[in-house]
Amino acid sequence: MRTQVGIIGAGPAGLFLSLLLQRAGIDCVVLESRSREYVESRVRAGVLEQGTVNLMAELGVDARLRRECMIDEGLDMRFSGKLIHLDLPDLTNGKLVHIYGQQEVVKDLIAKRIASGHALLFEAEATRIEGINTGKPTIHFKHEGKEQTLTCDFVAGCDGFHGVGRPAMPASELKIYDREFPFSWLGVLSESPPLTEMTYCNHERGYALVSRRSPQIARLYVQCPNDDDLANWPDSRIWDELHLRIGDEARTELKEGRIFQKGITPCRSFVSAPMQHGRLFLAGDASHIVPPTGAKGLNLAVADVRVLSRGLIDFFKTGATQRLERYSEVCLRRIWKVVRFSTFMTMLLHRPPDQTPFDREIQIAELDYIRTSRAPQTAIAENYVGLPYEDD
Ligand code: APR
Ligand code: PHB
Repeated sequence: MRTQVGIIGAGPAGLFLSLLLQRAGIDCVVLESRSREYVESRVRAGVLEQGTVNLMAELGVDARLRRECMIDEGLDMRFSGKLIHLDLPDLTNGKLVHIYGQQEVVKDLIAKRIASGHALLFEAEATRIEGINTGKPTIHFKHEGKEQTLTCDFVAGCDGFHGVGRPAMPASELKIYDREFPFSWLGVLSESPPLTEMTYCNHERGYALVSRRSPQIARLYVQCPNDDDLANWPDSRIWDELHLRIGDEARTELKEGRIFQKGITPCRSFVSAPMQHGRLFLAGDASHIVPPTGAKGLNLAVADVRVLSRGLIDFFKTGATQRLERYSEVCLRRIWKVVRFSTFMTMLLHRPPDQTPFDREIQIAELDYIRTSRAPQTAIAENYVGLPYEDD
């Protein structure tokens, strides 16, 4: 096979990139190792920055989002029986966030790509990338039991943390920044009405988050030890911990329901730089991971491919290479700001197992400072709704 841009991975990064290039008339092929059902059922976060929603509108894939999303104008943080309420539009000159599951975004993007008849191959696992320092890199992939190749002008490694993209970069060229947190998130979906506001909780017993997918479906998280086992978390224990950690000892505020999905997610901040080597460009989780606190992963992948698509369109339309040459530098500036915010929120709201009484008092003092001062509230709100894109 032959194409202009070979895209590995049909997560948000690869799919948004494919629609951006397709709209500009640039030929691309998306290779996805898993099945369509698997990719569309993978539960992840669900907070969309205005920039992500605007791009979905630009690409004409926002109809279902408009019908089914929830609009969030507020954000609550609870600690020591106290409440911090952030009025997002008031603190950010009118900005807000949309609540819409990542797998719903992925479903809408896949539907658009397939309806357009442009190439998206499922169960097509890329096994090796060759010739990234030549003008004609080749992706080797397995599909329908056959070894195949895709020759292209550029390869976009949108294949997540465990893909073949990043390992195809010479290790000597890569700088790795990695921080694993000493706790994870147990996340569930339940048929129960969520709280009215997105609610983050810092509690003696650990962190909790009450989010949602719809007025009938709650998305709930509690901090748990790394390597914890789901078997240790029967539904009754999950509800017990949620009631306690959100300060609902009377069990009257948070309604319970049938839990129909459960999973444990590690908390990690990871960045690999640069994001480009020769004709290989990495985007999204292939190059960076943020802890889930703040729900920035998907939005950061979108920010990457906005920059990458402009560079590729420029190259194919005019031969200009400046934007592609600046891709890594421009993206990393935003990535580090988002890693900073996600790490800050994670340290503010969780109880590390080795936290000293001194650190605990500092944490509570920081939360109380945020509760009583507009400046830190504005800083959190600005980052939560999404930093403005740097028009490169
Ligand atoms: N060949 C083909 N596809 C692959 C390969 C491979 N060798 N390796 C991985 N993939 C696919 C995965 O199956 C997955 O569908 O690449 C896709 C990568 O998608 P994501 O992991 O969703 O990554 P990304 O598109 O960068 O989106 C980042 O996803 O993980 C969340 O929190 C993260 O929200 C963030 C978003
Ligand atoms: C979610 O709705 O899944 C969610 C919300 C906020 C976060 C993380 C995840 O910080």
